[in-house]
Parts: sequence; structure tokens; C-alpha cells
Amino acid sequence: NKPRVVVIGSLNMDIVVETERSPQVGETLLGERIRFIPGGKGANQAVAASRLGAETAMIGAVGDDAFGQELLNALRDDGVDVTGVNCISNMTTGVASIYVTEGDNSIVVVPGANYKVMTDDIDKNEDKLKQADIVLLQLEIPVDTVLHAARKAKSLGKIVVLNPAPAQPLPNEIFSYVDYITPNRSELSRYTGIDAGGESLETAMQRMKQMGANHVVTTLGASGSAYLSDDGKVRMISGYKVPTVDTTGAGDCYNAGLAIAVTQGKSLDKAVDYAGLVSALAVTKFGAQAGMPAEADVRCFAAEQRNKN
Ligand code: RIB
Ligand code: NA
Repeated sequence: NKPRVVVIGSLNMDIVVETERSPQVGETLLGERIRFIPGGKGANQAVAASRLGAETAMIGAVGDDAFGQELLNALRDDGVDVTGVNCISNMTTGVASIYVTEGDNSIVVVPGANYKVMTDDIDKNEDKLKQADIVLLQLEIPVDTVLHAARKAKSLGKIVVLNPAPAQPLPNEIFSYVDYITPNRSELSRYTGIDAGGESLETAMQRMKQMGANHVVTTLGASGSAYLSDDGKVRMISGYKVPTVDTTGAGDCYNAGLAIAVTQGKSLDKAVDYAGLVSALAVTKFGAQAGMPAEADVRCFAAEQRNKN
């Protein structure tokens, strides 16, 4: 039985410029290379979920430009149902302008059509939500829409995963609809008001749970991730050591992996480990959607890692 995933969120064309270092204010640099790669946190999660074996549908919006068509085609090629993605006239498709310097990146997102994903688009796609096992949300579409989607998905008895990125002011109500919330350290600090660095990670994660989310998982980049176990203690799951090529979209891949594992009934420690495995693979490849691993890649990588130990 394939997990059935619905992703509600953004589609962006990533315009990726490789440079030796980031430009300073007032400075002009010569870049090394430019690429146009499908991205957007929502679409990245959808592609990752589909490659990992889920039946996946996307709800979102593109503009009536060439990027929009390219992004839709990319999702279709990956077997994602895009009948829930609107094409909005006189709007630009979402664009992310990304500088990649030695594996690190800085990103400016111009949402365009992503900000035209409205609450009634969720209602219109209620059938898709009904058929889903799990619903994935992020914050590159209007927060009102995310709130509405979370509320609706929860009322339909679905598992709700919220990747609260990029950090946005959120109404408290939303956390009560969320089964899994997956901030990174800085997002966790923003939402809880507790500096989640070092020792305070546990306190911040406990606070996040008190705010209403059932399960709190914090991604820690190359260090791996942490989850709050039922006894209220933080458990750390170390990351897999891989050569870093490009971390863009690794967090999105992590969320898709977590969602799939959870839907398959894996315990949280196993699910978090699986998410770490798939996102490690994503880091070894350039580009967001271009770098998402397939189920078979993950199986090989997992076997390799087992043999190492
Ligand atoms: O999470 C990575 C994504 O964030 C990129 O693909 C880019 O589109 C930005 O939205
Ligand atoms: Na990548």
C-alpha cells in the first residue's frame, strides 16, 4: 500500500548562481555558472515524496509564464498529481534567487502566484484531502491558507506535518492541528522565544510541544536531528556523513521522508532516522528537486551505511 500524500504549498523556479563567495553590498562579482532548477518548499516535498514511493498530489499555484509551465511539467514527470495547482493569469510564478558558495546558500524568494493560494482552493480540493493519509504544509503560501488547511486536514482525521519555514508570525491556534512540527534551531527559537542553541534545545522543544504540536522534531543540519520523546526528553539522531554538494531542499526532503515513514507506521525514532538518511542523499546532489533521491537510491545507501558499522 503506497502512502498517500498531499502537499499544500509553494512552487518556485530556483535561479541558482554559483559564486566563490557571496557579493557584498555595492559589489559586483563574476559568477561561475547559472542554472534554472525546479524548487519551492512545497513542490520539493512533493517530488521527494513521490520519488520515495508515495502517491502524491500537490495543491498550489503558478503564474501564466514559462516558468509556471516548466514547474508543472517537472512535477508531472515525477508522477505528482498537479490537478490541484492553479495557473493564475497576470501573475509571475514564484522565483527563488539563490547564491551557492561552496555548498552553502543564501536565498531570496519572490512568492508571486504562491501568494494566490487561498482558503477556497483548499475547499475545492477537499476530495484530495479526504483520500490522503498525510498532509504536508510549509510557510511559503499565505499563513491564513496554511491555517485553514491544517484545520481542515485535522478535522478530516489526517496526519498533519508542518515545516514552519521560512519563519513567519503564526496564530497559536495552528499548533493544535499539527501532529509533527519540524523547525530548525533558528525557527524553533523564533516560535518559542527561547534561544534553542546548545543546552536550551530541550527546553525550547518542550515549549513547542506545550504550544500544541503533538510531536516536535528539530533539524540540525549536518549534525542530524532531534525529537522529543514521550518522556519529555530530547533524543538526538546523528546525521549521516556525506560529501556536501548543495543543501538546497535537504530540509524539504527530510520532511517528505519523515512523512512517509510515519505513514508506514514507523516509530518516531525510526522515522527520524529515515528522514536523516534521505536528506543526507539530497545533500550530495546539486539542486532542490534535481537532488531528491529515489526509493532505490535510499535502499542502497542504507545498506552501505549498515555495512560500514
Ligand atoms: O527549501 C528550499 C527551497 O526554498 C528552494 O527550492 C527555494 O525555492 C526556496 O523556496
Ligand atoms: Na541538493
